[in-house]
Amino acid sequence: MDSRLPLHVIVLAAGQGTRMQSALPKVLHPVAGRPMLAHVLATAAALDAEVSHVVIGHGGEAVQREITAPAGLDVRWAIQHEQLGTAHAVDQAMPAVPDAAQVLIMYGDVPLVQSATLANLLAVGEATGALLAAQLSDPTGYGRLLRTADGRLAAVVEEKDATVEQRQIKEINTGFVCAPAHKLRAWVAGIDNDNAKGEYYLTDLVALAAAEGAPLAVATAEEAADVEGVNDRLQLARAERRFQARQAEAVMRAGVSLRDPARFDLRGTLDAGRDVVIDADVIIEGHVVLADGVQVGPFVHLRNVEVGAGSRIHSHSVLESARVGADCDIGPFARLRPGTQCADGARVGNFVEIKNASLGPGAKANHLSYLGDATVGAKANIGAGTITCNYDGANKHHTRIGESAFIGSNTALVAPVEVGDRATIAAGSTITKNAPADALTLARSREQKSLSGWKRPQKRPGSGGDNGGSQGGA
Ligand code: UD1
Ligand code: CA
Repeated sequence: MDSRLPLHVIVLAAGQGTRMQSALPKVLHPVAGRPMLAHVLATAAALDAEVSHVVIGHGGEAVQREITAPAGLDVRWAIQHEQLGTAHAVDQAMPAVPDAAQVLIMYGDVPLVQSATLANLLAVGEATGALLAAQLSDPTGYGRLLRTADGRLAAVVEEKDATVEQRQIKEINTGFVCAPAHKLRAWVAGIDNDNAKGEYYLTDLVALAAAEGAPLAVATAEEAADVEGVNDRLQLARAERRFQARQAEAVMRAGVSLRDPARFDLRGTLDAGRDVVIDADVIIEGHVVLADGVQVGPFVHLRNVEVGAGSRIHSHSVLESARVGADCDIGPFARLRPGTQCADGARVGNFVEIKNASLGPGAKANHLSYLGDATVGAKANIGAGTITCNYDGANKHHTRIGESAFIGSNTALVAPVEVGDRATIAAGSTITKNAPADALTLARSREQKSLSGWKRPQKRPGSGGDNGGSQGGA
């Protein structure tokens, strides 16, 4: 056959997924933060498929809503109103498949299959069609391959229809099949539902091809676990761990040290420089960029974050939609919310929350503060307990803190307000008006007094020792 025939992928995704015990359609359950079906379509795109026809039924509208086509892949939907079997499902997509095409059948609930495995299947089956097999020590539940004495593929028998002897066969059908479109069309039209489940079995095409004297070729998946389907939440968790292990390996090969690859979760994409070290139990979501030499401590959660070279994100910090420059120290226990920008050399310490705010180069907020809707100048020092009061109950207002300003501990900055460059704010102040540059500003509810003639209360003589020396009753 012509190797230049366009590839049309048919993805079967109409089943209910009863064993997931879920309101969510099975193919939308996520592996590494993406729906299983999105993984399958990404694999189809990696194979340079021209069109992917997705057969949907149960929860089809939700599936159409949640899935976006990967770049370069034309995704079309085929509705299967009643789930009458895998051949019936394929039949729903066939009207949109031209005769001059190669067809690859994929499954929406087999997310880990690798494009190289399928490329091999396509190469093997270019003329005759081919089926992807695997060797399983426990083949329970799968269709078994029946071969002739000379080793040619004769049929696939489903578990429910198999004899006791056939059930001993460990060579199974993974479900992935490829065939020239015109052959597939004819085979599917010839399949009936005369079997134990009363379904139209796609696998019956194997016997039809053999009867025509041109049996399907067989390709074998090297990693059987890659072609395992997900039917329940246990298998979903296994697929997740397997996918994470694959990603951890890729990340380490690219030069990142993972202190424990089994405790690393990437739900998105990581773009890491050299000599990045990631400690245990770090969760990375969305798109994260870590420049050379970044160190990420244990139990850190990063989502859509960029971190500059040599910075350290200490344990238990949570960063979302934030940018951190080079040589910064963040955490432990810091929270950088969306819109946070820390310039080079900035420090954010424990129990500091920052939102929609920028810290200039070398600025420090080391303890217990909230900086929201604020601009903090270079080398400014934010004392413990500083709060930007950015919200008046209706609107948010901005606070500007100048370069090298020093904000004393427990200061409330009531926005909108500005603190000038090199200004000092006395500890415990509530600042409601702009504080000028270079000056000390105090704003406390009352001045502190010291009374020199003051005497501590004395115990009354003869009052006895009943209170055990406690000062409580004085
Ligand atoms: C199927 C194969 C079996 C193979 C196994 C691999 C058939 C008859 N059997 O069995 O040989 O070992 O997969 O996992 O093909 N689907 C639809 N519409 C339908 C029926 C199914 O879209 O009417 C979809 C399901 O959502 C699922 C896939 O097709 O994604 C497979 O269907 P399922 O019923 O799970 O087939 P198995 O019994 O597992
Ligand atoms: Ca199945």
